[in-house]
Amino acid sequence: MVLDGLRRLEYRGYDSAGVAVLAGQGRLAVERKAGRLSNLEDRLTEVGRDAFAGTAGIGHTRWATHGAPVDRNSHPHRDAANRVAVVHNGIIENFAALRAELEAAGVEFASDTDTETVAHLVARAYDGVDGAEGTAGDLPASMRAVCRRLDGAFTLVVTHVDQPDVIVAARRSSPLVVGIGEGETFVASDVAAFIEHTRDAVELGQDQVVTINRDGYHVTDFRGEDAVSRPFHVDWDLSAAEKGGYEYFMLKEIEEQPEALADTLRGHFNGGRIVLDEQRMSDQDLRDVDKVFVVACGTAYHSGLIAKYAIEHWTRLPVEVELASEFRYRDPVLDRDTLVVAVSQSGETADTLEAVRHAREQKARVLAVCNTNGAQIPRESDAVLYTHAGPEVGVASTKTFLAQIAANYLVGLALAQARGTKYPDEVAREFDELAAMPEQVRRVLGTVEKVRSLGRSLADAKAVLFLGRHVGYPVALEGALKLKELAYMHAEGFAAGELKHGPIALIEEGLPVVVVMPSPKGRAVLHAKLLSNISEIQARGARTIVIAEEGDETVRPFADELVEVPAVPTLLQPLVSTVPLQVLAAEIARARGYDVDKPRNLAKSVTVE
Ligand code: M6R
Repeated sequence: MVLDGLRRLEYRGYDSAGVAVLAGQGRLAVERKAGRLSNLEDRLTEVGRDAFAGTAGIGHTRWATHGAPVDRNSHPHRDAANRVAVVHNGIIENFAALRAELEAAGVEFASDTDTETVAHLVARAYDGVDGAEGTAGDLPASMRAVCRRLDGAFTLVVTHVDQPDVIVAARRSSPLVVGIGEGETFVASDVAAFIEHTRDAVELGQDQVVTINRDGYHVTDFRGEDAVSRPFHVDWDLSAAEKGGYEYFMLKEIEEQPEALADTLRGHFNGGRIVLDEQRMSDQDLRDVDKVFVVACGTAYHSGLIAKYAIEHWTRLPVEVELASEFRYRDPVLDRDTLVVAVSQSGETADTLEAVRHAREQKARVLAVCNTNGAQIPRESDAVLYTHAGPEVGVASTKTFLAQIAANYLVGLALAQARGTKYPDEVAREFDELAAMPEQVRRVLGTVEKVRSLGRSLADAKAVLFLGRHVGYPVALEGALKLKELAYMHAEGFAAGELKHGPIALIEEGLPVVVVMPSPKGRAVLHAKLLSNISEIQARGARTIVIAEEGDETVRPFADELVEVPAVPTLLQPLVSTVPLQVLAAEIARARGYDVDKPRNLAKSVTVE
């Protein structure tokens, strides 16, 4: 059961994996292995799985922060007497001081991790040797006492051989949910771990500790006071968390994009008005906004770059788009009339969370765009708009990117509506155009076979460049990011106008260059300029792969390979032109023999800064 849960969470980290089972008679059975979960499974088969029979167990898949991804740094970590086992997500920032204190007390460490300090601290609190009051023989109290000493972000899960029917878990700024089954209870970072057993869950709040046994759970704060936690029912099932016949989750998720878009838009135009989800901001608040920031990382950041074009156009408000990791360190100008839109699929990206906290400290209002119900970023924001893309397991964001673009546009329309920069019928028209997009994306998906074979033909390329202008520019950045992370290939996205300011020096004979064309009708001037840009690179020997609107005959002579996408309004073009780039990256990566769901060195949720 623990391994099944880990399999569904492996997208969160796959440097190593481990399990610990309370196997009876005061025995803690532990096995850990570097590499993928399958290595651990092979190891368990080798040593005999019977040794791991029990009714309470914990497991972990790791994305290494402290210490190389080798067996001895894999979780669970234990105290010296092998009585306590701990798994941990996040970083314990004061671990060096804690470790020094423990070493001074004679404790020997078996790993290079920050996590191991917790195993020793819990064991010592439980044994009553560290002077903490009321912790001896009490595992929840020991956990609470230790948590009070920790700095940083963490989810911790602890077992003790003396308490074979109990598991204690705690969280600060890192996710933890409880699953309520019949005669069985679960804790995990994500409901996907226990979705085949129950869809009834409880989300823990900040600085809370939960004690579970087979019959239920009890939540307190770090001081031991009873605490309130939020029960919820998961609205997707096991099939959404499985591959459903696809070789990779990513391929399934690319195909799911029409539904992700439709589900994200559903219910947001009601009674002739745009309605957001949990909006703890009034129309007056939206009218008071005098500046918008979009903060996000990676693909979510690219969705923000696209949103800038729409929100500025619709609202006449200045929009700045900033990498969350840079935002708070450069002292941005924020006040109560600034709206910060924090875009995050997971809702737990540490950089974005810290940006949200910084913005709120400066009195700005924060609206989260998130795909994970009740995650930390929406919890700490003034308002939230959920993308309903369903679980995204592939590490590369695909369907959530399209859903983020749609949700960001809803935010723009809500602002335009409240501020009166668009008439109600104009808002309705924009929404209708958005609502027509799932069908257009479906059409693109019906034509990507050609892109697949093109991808296979590019498997040996050394590098690929991506060019675009206007909303095609962030699409080019996203195409390059997909290729880097999946195919480990050098890929760069550029604003095509920048080419002759430097990047054109990269062009050489046969270099594949992907160009995202604007519409010849909607953006005639830009279209003409991009044709000139293509001529410049063709003259220098580049192999051009052009993504262009159906029926755009003028582009043919400029395209060594032409990929056609449906004609749609300019601001919506990223929803169709991104799809071939996702497919292209996936195909090149597969042709190179890589696992597109779990690219090297990456993890789906980046919960450390
Ligand atoms: O969960 P988030 O949306 O906050 O994640 C942000 C980035 O880590 C993420 O978009 C990443 O760039 C993608 N996996 C790339 O495909």
